[in-house]
Amino acid sequence: MNYEIGESFAQKMDAQDSLKTFREKFYIPKQSNGEEVIYFTGNSLGLQPKKTRGYIEQELEDWETLGVEGHFKAKNPWMPYHELLTEQMARIVGAKPIETVVMNSLTVNLHLLMVSFYRPTATRHKIFIEAGAFPSDQYAVASQIKFHGFDVKSSLIELKPRENETCLRTEDIEKTIAENADSIALILLGGVNYYTGQAFDMRRITEVGHKFGAIVGFDLAHAAGNLGLKLHDWNVDFAAWCSYKYLNSGPGGVGGCFVHERHAGDFDLPRFAGWWGHDKETRFLMKPDFLPIKGAEGWQMSNPPIFQMASLRASLEIFDEAGMENLTEKSRKLTDYLEFLLNEINNERISVITPNDSSERGCQLSIRVQNADKNLFKAITLRGVIADWREPDVIRVAPVPLYNSFDDVYKFAGILKDCLA
Ligand SMILES: Cc1ncc(COP(=O)(O)O)c(C=O)c1O
Repeated sequence: MNYEIGESFAQKMDAQDSLKTFREKFYIPKQSNGEEVIYFTGNSLGLQPKKTRGYIEQELEDWETLGVEGHFKAKNPWMPYHELLTEQMARIVGAKPIETVVMNSLTVNLHLLMVSFYRPTATRHKIFIEAGAFPSDQYAVASQIKFHGFDVKSSLIELKPRENETCLRTEDIEKTIAENADSIALILLGGVNYYTGQAFDMRRITEVGHKFGAIVGFDLAHAAGNLGLKLHDWNVDFAAWCSYKYLNSGPGGVGGCFVHERHAGDFDLPRFAGWWGHDKETRFLMKPDFLPIKGAEGWQMSNPPIFQMASLRASLEIFDEAGMENLTEKSRKLTDYLEFLLNEINNERISVITPNDSSERGCQLSIRVQNADKNLFKAITLRGVIADWREPDVIRVAPVPLYNSFDDVYKFAGILKDCLA
């Protein structure tokens, strides 16, 4: 695609955009002057769909009028409520319904899945993550290693980019796996790194990991609802993600999990159990022995938070309407356009550290600011841009295809250019 500098190009792209009406389905926060902000932080907290309130109010109303009977008699009975989300969530991550469940939050789910899928032995005990993984993932894997009586120093592999590079090369990931072929138990990478915005080649990493006998899982916090995913076809063992970023479920929204179908009936896998993971037919017989549900649902523990699920439902329906393929196609154009305009600014005080190959990123671009000068971030914020600053020196911007426009990108680039001047 040939991008052009002037605003008329952005307006033309918006006019042609088949997803343009989706912006109207969301509340866009406003500045004190009444103008809409340029919201580029859907990678941190997605915006509120206008229909979310109605979905939550429905559950409040059913609770008000039905009390406990809402479990069976609510408009959407609470007992099987989480099932309403399964197929839609499965479509977003390229999974089968039996492989998908919505439950808990992300770090909790990573732990629960590691209980089953990190089974270290005296020789095969290492976990492989990317250096600079989100801190919660670092804490989670280190605590799992210690929990099993191993030493983080000898059991954690953290791969750093090559000198003077900011992203990891797939060949280096493969080499690391091969070099530790006999000792890697688990590979747990972010689908998209939160800091650099780099998307990893999950299909390839899974293939290589399996070749050398490792289990392969992904933290998809920055990938779910952002990239086109095919977890089932890629043969990934497990994955977990949150829904408050690209999936717009609201602060602290309920997380998602994937467990590949080939593990669905493996009841010998160790797991932490709770009554919601128990066979649905016999759950209320209140028997002492735990009989897991086949598939990802068998990892549930507690009865689900209905208000959070109601909120997520409102957003997942919008994803279904829009379609992940359409969203990723628009996303590519939006982000490529943003990159084009940043290159046009051509100012040595900023550089994009996200890969410039669009197959290696989602919608986020991470802009490194020379000398870690946070004043630039403060200046664009004052001009109505909601982006975020990540220590030590990066401004992350994520034009989200559901509610951001080409004109947002155009205006952002203009503000950034002014502030650099
Ligand atoms: C990559 C990644 N992992 C883990 C987390 C932690 O998520 P939670 O607080 O939902 O456990 C986040 C949160 O932003 C994240 O971005």
